[in-house]
Amino acid sequence: MRLNKYIAAAGICSRRKADELIAAGNVKVNGAVCRQMGCQVEEGDRVQVNGRTIEAAEKKVYVALNKPAGYVTTLSDEKDRATVADLVADIPQRLFPVGRLDAQTTGLLLMTNDGDLAQHLTHPGHEVYKTYVALVAGVMSDARLAKLRRGVDIGGFVTSPAKATVLKQHPHSALVEISIREGKNRQVRRMFAAVGNRVQALERVAVGNIRLGHLKEGHWRKLSREEVEYLKSL
Ligand code: URA
Repeated sequence: MRLNKYIAAAGICSRRKADELIAAGNVKVNGAVCRQMGCQVEEGDRVQVNGRTIEAAEKKVYVALNKPAGYVTTLSDEKDRATVADLVADIPQRLFPVGRLDAQTTGLLLMTNDGDLAQHLTHPGHEVYKTYVALVAGVMSDARLAKLRRGVDIGGFVTSPAKATVLKQHPHSALVEISIREGKNRQVRRMFAAVGNRVQALERVAVGNIRLGHLKEGHWRKLSREEVEYLKSL
């Protein structure tokens, strides 16, 4: 098997990132640095990445997590805050989050040790629709909704066309469903701020066709085979 594939299959990172690690001289095979892109490894070879010996091809795991507020989307946090990794600690494989949710955002976060799929799904220009339900302050007028759909300037960046519908207008707030394909930092919050509605609570309810459904906060479920096939087909 090619070395980059072996590293990705072990759940360390994507194949592309593995190529970078190889080129940078961070990978050893049987004790010797290997910088060759096409380097082949066989069963029994000892592969080390950044000095750590990696285990061959781990079972691929794909989960949907309902992230509660207050958890950061990293695997380890320098400020020692609670992380999404804590919520999947009962799964033996080391899973990485697919994309990011802000600490205060709740809802659907996909996690996997399939580095190639994670990279593919978050690659700029190839992103799937992600659907959020936002509770926003004030009135969501038709004019504001039209702006969100068309694209708004969130500070040096104009967002691509989005889908947006008002689920409920309360006297002083509105519940709005919005679907976007991009993933700029705090994008949904900045889009609503740009049209004059501050986000009070934000939940992601779907990534493409994968829905959060009735998964309880802080809980995870394995994706079905159909869901995994669907993600790979994107
Ligand atoms: N947009 C946001 O503003 N926050 C998120 O967590 C995700 C999308």
